[in-house]
Amino acid sequence: MPGAETFRASAEAYDRLVGRYSPQLASALIEFAGVERGMRALDVGCGPGALAAALVERLGSEKVAGAEPSEPFAEACRARLPGIEVVVAPAESLPFPDDSFDAALSQLVINFMRDAEAGAREMVRVTRPGGVLASCVWDYAGDMRLVRAFWDAAREVDPERAAAADEAVVMRWCRHGDLAELWRLAGLCEVRFAPLVVRASYEEFEDLWSPLPIGVAPSGAFCKSLDEDRRVALHDAYRRLLGAGDGPFELEARAWAVAGIVP
Ligand SMILES: C[S@@+](CC[C@H](N)C(=O)[O-])C[C@H]1O[C@@H](n2cnc3c(N)ncnc32)[C@H](O)[C@@H]1O
Repeated sequence: MPGAETFRASAEAYDRLVGRYSPQLASALIEFAGVERGMRALDVGCGPGALAAALVERLGSEKVAGAEPSEPFAEACRARLPGIEVVVAPAESLPFPDDSFDAALSQLVINFMRDAEAGAREMVRVTRPGGVLASCVWDYAGDMRLVRAFWDAAREVDPERAAAADEAVVMRWCRHGDLAELWRLAGLCEVRFAPLVVRASYEEFEDLWSPLPIGVAPSGAFCKSLDEDRRVALHDAYRRLLGAGDGPFELEARAWAVAGIVP
């Protein structure tokens, strides 16, 4: 579970860093999964609640539950979506009876699970036969520009440590087809795999940079661990690699998504 502890930092900083992409990604994942009105759905690793919020919009709050092991993130989700049940629990041990949901989804969570196979099996257990399991992860090695450019810049500034922390290296389930393999290992049928591409806008480079020194997410934790000179060098290299000038800009991010049916 590389970096799972970095999500105990600020939910507000998370929203400014990765959370900027989450609402768009959530809508795309819900469409891809085929979540429809009337279903009861679980958001596993709900964080501050971007996917849960999109599920509530489609299904209503009484039909949505969230599970999240980080207490501050679970609390942020409850504050944002007061009508839904949010339990503090990891995917590997979900406190719900068998067949409780028609759909179990997780967004950007699989790589942070201690045991992703056990997490996927638990998601299967709490979903009824015929229900859907769907998930997505960033394409850390390829077209997730925010994260890819960060680690490329980090490798310029502190090559050895950055090479060991680069999410393209440490994340087990981030290459083309990996999630489909995991879904088949968990016993799912009719497995589908596809890219989801989303965009985020920034006022300027500082808007992108400001949550990183707080230490949220693996990139933030790396940034926070640097001494002042290296942090400044990282800031400058990152900005150069992104080609960010003084004004607003947009970045594209690709995630890999998987969906499958519970037998
Ligand atoms: C990148 S964030 C994604 C949050 C949210 N799903 C979103 O899309 O914005 C990863 C989340 O996974 C949670 N997490 C870490 N380990 C987990 C586990 N074993 N089971 C479930 N969630 C976990 C983290 O606390 C964090 O909220």
